Amino acid sequence: MDPRHNPFAPGAGTPPPELSGRTTLLTRADVALSRVRQCRPEKGMILVGLRGVGKTVLLNEIRRQAEHTNYQTCRIEAHEGKTLPALLVPQLRRVLLNLDRMASLSTQVKKSLGVLKSFMNGFKTKIGEVEVSLDIEAEAGAADSGDLETDLPELMAAVGRAAQARQASLALFIDEIQYFHASELSALIMAMHRVAQDRLPVILFAAGLPQVVALFGNSKSYAERLFDFPEIGALSIAETMDALEKPAQAENVSFAPPALAMIFEKSRGYPFFLQEWGYHSWNQAPASPITNADVAAASPVVMQSLDQGFFRVRFDRLTPREKRYLRAMAELGEGPYRSGEIAKQLGKKSSDLGTLRDVLIGKGMIYAPAHGDVAFTVPRFDEFMRRIMPKELL
Ligand SMILES: Nc1ncnc2c1ncn2[C@@H]1O[C@H](COP(=O)(O)OP(=O)(O)OP(=O)(O)O)[C@@H](O)[C@H]1O
Ligand SMILES: [Mg+2]
Repeated sequence: MDPRHNPFAPGAGTPPPELSGRTTLLTRADVALSRVRQCRPEKGMILVGLRGVGKTVLLNEIRRQAEHTNYQTCRIEAHEGKTLPALLVPQLRRVLLNLDRMASLSTQVKKSLGVLKSFMNGFKTKIGEVEVSLDIEAEAGAADSGDLETDLPELMAAVGRAAQARQASLALFIDEIQYFHASELSALIMAMHRVAQDRLPVILFAAGLPQVVALFGNSKSYAERLFDFPEIGALSIAETMDALEKPAQAENVSFAPPALAMIFEKSRGYPFFLQEWGYHSWNQAPASPITNADVAAASPVVMQSLDQGFFRVRFDRLTPREKRYLRAMAELGEGPYRSGEIAKQLGKKSSDLGTLRDVLIGKGMIYAPAHGDVAFTVPRFDEFMRRIMPKELL
């Protein structure tokens, strides 16, 4: 069928043509936004899930909801090589300048801009690369100790007060939150604790890999009282069908029921995979309806596309030792895997592999679903490892 009308959207953070199966979560987010706007107590939300389940897309959707309801929003994506202050300062600066523009009387906002300025002074060395100029006097003694756990709560409270003075609210959106350093995560949790205590209209929405639950819990025992950790997972069969059928219908195209069942089976309901299968099945099909023969014909193309993109980009970031560790996992089947069993595959002691395992968790390749267990953060990565690396290389 005409690829120019293909509605499917495989990609990182690419909005799907039909955001299937997430209504309950979006309603929860909407309630939370509304309560925070009224300065009522509410937990932040940390979306937790494997690669490609639709976390980024959801964060972006919640952000749209927030912006529709008088929220100022900041969106950042954590990654190795940039600090939390360097990512946050330009965003908060933009928010404060927006608030400043909202009316002429802006003493509170001016004051908060001064706090931001002094925060920047405190972290001068660390955020030197960011070009952020503020034509305002720093608030001496506010958020300028240079200790992030002291300064970030003060800064967030100051921004919260500025928003409140403008009858506005602030929502922070942080993607890939597992990549922050422990000290940054701790400062962020303390900052959200502070704004909750001060009843300021500020809320955090974040997304990350399954390891974030443990990272939050280890950082601050009260984290579970400040945040919910909804699990974002694969879609059910009915949700998968919706995700495929509705966009096709909008183009006057249908799927034969066996084709839908086949895509569900092959994708296992994982959003990224079902977009890939939908996309390539559409292009393979000579006419509507799309049949299971079309899906079967598309499958080698999908696998090639996944192997060269989704899986490959992760594989290429690994050292030879890391690859061998992951290959040993894959040799054991689908997982989760006992650390001891992996060590046995490699002819090593479990205790010799602890550091390597931690590095792989830090890189976001694996996580520990239970003590002594590990699993891949990328669905079906075990099959890919078996395809790409012969067993002899173990
Ligand atoms: N609810 C959904 N229904 C249908 N397709 C979806 C849904 N959510 C996401 N997708 C599709 O899945 C793909 C992956 O989405 P997204 O990038 O948000 O995942 P992610 O969880 O952020 O992945 P990663 O951990 O790799 O960043 C995109 O192509 C998107 O269009
Ligand atoms: Mg993402």
